[in-house]
This record gives sequence, C-alpha cells and structure tokens, in this order.
Amino acid sequence: MDGPSGSGKSSVSRGVARALGLRYLDTGAMYRAMTWWMLQQEVDLADPAAVAARCGGPRIDVGTDPDGPTIHVDGLDVAGPIREAEVTGSVSVVAAVPEVRARLVALQREIIGAGDIVVEGRDIGTAVWPEAAVKVYLTASPEARARRRSAELAGSTVEAQQEAMARRDTLDSTRKTDPLSMADGAVELDTTPLSLEEVIGEVLRLVKERT
Ligand code: DC
Repeated sequence: MDGPSGSGKSSVSRGVARALGLRYLDTGAMYRAMTWWMLQQEVDLADPAAVAARCGGPRIDVGTDPDGPTIHVDGLDVAGPIREAEVTGSVSVVAAVPEVRARLVALQREIIGAGDIVVEGRDIGTAVWPEAAVKVYLTASPEARARRRSAELAGSTVEAQQEAMARRDTLDSTRKTDPLSMADGAVELDTTPLSLEEVIGEVLRLVKERT
C-alpha cells in the first residue's frame, strides 16, 4: 500500500490486515524511528554523509500486530516521540539518504519474507517488494489529506498542514532513491469521496480477485 501522507494508508492497511488475519508493517514508522535517533544523537541532518555514516547505529524493532503496532529503538518505546513535529519535519531528509534506505529496506524484506503481510509506505510496490500479489496506490485530494491530518493533530490548522504536506510530498517524490511513485501493476484508489469502510471493502475485493 503506497501513497502520500494523509491518503489513508495506515487506517486502510490496518483494517485490511485485521479483516484478513494478516500482519501489518508501517515502514514510515521505521524512517521516523531512524530520524528520532539521529536527532537524539545530534547528527547534522543537513549532511547526508554524516547521516549515512551513522545509520547503522540504532537497533530498530517493529511489531506487526495490526491491533497494536509497536516501534522500539535500542529497546526504548518511541511510538509517541516519532509522531512529534520535530521528527515529522525532518524525516523526509533522512529518508532521502540511500544508505538509510538500504538498511531499512533490508530489514523490511526480512519481515515481509516471513509470511503474508500488509505493508504501507512509499516504495513498497516499486522497490521493496515489486512481486507483491496486490499493489494499491492510495491518493486523496490535498484538502482531504490535510483535513485528516489536522484532525489527528491537536492545534494544527488545515492550511498549515497542507503546506507542510506539500513540502514533504515534494521531497518524497523528487528524491533520487526510490521516490514515491505508482508501481507497475498497482491499482490507484482515490479515497477522497469514500469512507474508511468503503476503501477497506474495495481493497478486500481486489485481494479476493487477485489472489
Ligand atoms: O507514512 P509516514 O508519514 O509515517 O512516513 C514518514 C516519512 O518516511 C515520509 O515523509 C517518507 C518516508 N517514507 C519513505 O521514504 N519510504 C517509505 N516506505 C515510508 C516512508
């Protein structure tokens, strides 16, 4: 399940995993965990060579239960801190560093290889697991995406969200290594006019049809 932030990936992926009794992997949480650790270590994020040199440092453990996904860095629960503004504002820069991607993609492939799973991210269908049985590319209008995100974050306006998201989208889709893009064979689903249940239903229908 690939797509920009606010397209509904997390809720849809978890819902689909739950309905099918599958594991669920949030790859964005892994990039966020790496970014949180870099900030803690005061690594200069403006220096890709420094980020590359340090990215082997943290141990990142990610849980795959759709009812309670977990994320730990060196044994510390970072589920809360990785959603904070400082991480959100820096994660695209860290995720653009090829060495970071190589390390996290290797970890993701290990987890995916262990059995059937619903995976959400930006490059799952294009780079991490192009042989996926079902590939979905979720989109939504910029307004709908910003509205969903600002409803999740207290004290944030729709306008501010839309601006921050546009910045992140540009970084995520123009980076050199595995930018956000629709995979060959992916089905594009515009979630703007649909309820969460309707999107989950549509994905479940695709899974049935294709597997
Ligand atoms: O889905 P999210 O907002 O939690 O993702 C956080 C950032 O991580 C996002 O700005 C882009 C990056 N990311 C990525 O580059 N590749 C992925 N497979 C998942 C996320």
